[in-house]
Amino acid sequence: MNTNANAPTVKLSRTIERLVAGQATSDGAGVKLTRVLTNDLQQRLDPFLMLDAFGSDNPNDYIAGFPDHPHRGFETVTYMIAGRMLHRDSAGHEGLLENGGVQWMTAGKGVIHSEIPQQEDGVMEGFQLWLNLPGRDKMNPPWYRDFKNQDLPKLVTDQGVDVTIIAGSSHGVSGAVTRDATQALYLDVHMPAGARFAQSLPADHNVFVYVYRGALSIAGVAVPTQRMAILNNDAQADGLVIDATADAKFLLIAGKPLKEPIAQYGPFVMNTQAEIRQAIEDFRAGRLGEIA
Ligand code: CO
Repeated sequence: MNTNANAPTVKLSRTIERLVAGQATSDGAGVKLTRVLTNDLQQRLDPFLMLDAFGSDNPNDYIAGFPDHPHRGFETVTYMIAGRMLHRDSAGHEGLLENGGVQWMTAGKGVIHSEIPQQEDGVMEGFQLWLNLPGRDKMNPPWYRDFKNQDLPKLVTDQGVDVTIIAGSSHGVSGAVTRDATQALYLDVHMPAGARFAQSLPADHNVFVYVYRGALSIAGVAVPTQRMAILNNDAQADGLVIDATADAKFLLIAGKPLKEPIAQYGPFVMNTQAEIRQAIEDFRAGRLGEIA
């Protein structure tokens, strides 16, 4: 076993501010999903704008996928637990996302893309996170990377906790992607019942945990399955300590707040209404997905 020797010592864990159940909704061409991080939490969880969880074994819930649609001003991170989804975009990128793979797309000044399931039955399960860009980077050229599951950095702690590091770093291991402005941390953590996991975190970073299997306890408070726990920014806390009360799988997501105004209109997230009007105008004029 690849046991990790750089376990952090967290002297005082953050505590839970509140638990959130998310909202059942649908998006794209009728894909059923749970919006875990909703618009009303964008300021609180800055720099994160949205987290969707989708999971179904009924093809009617996902088969039509997400046909061509635009984005500008932020990044989308899609993490597929089960199933196969094909991505195509106006910048010429194409990639098949499957079985634990991650697709990281920086929309920047604009892409038009589609995400279409490549299966007619079986389970489709995954997550899409929206990560904001600082104003100075919103009009940068688009960027895109696919990571197969075996290409994502992983570690196993001495308590048998499996950690996949999609972004940021954990226990001295750097993730697939690093971002200077937001210092985004994105971990998928699998814990056996009774295990403990600690993660160092700066006190001013916004942090949440989404449990998608099993159950956890954080600072004595239970977090059941399919709940997001928003963590307090306790000034004295130097990290987060999590106990698995059952075999558990969860996402641990954290980032440095940008503290900039957020102007959103659907798939465009800018700083001002004037920039939103420009995005809509560029999209209507066919300029948004141009490679230039
Ligand atoms: Co999209």
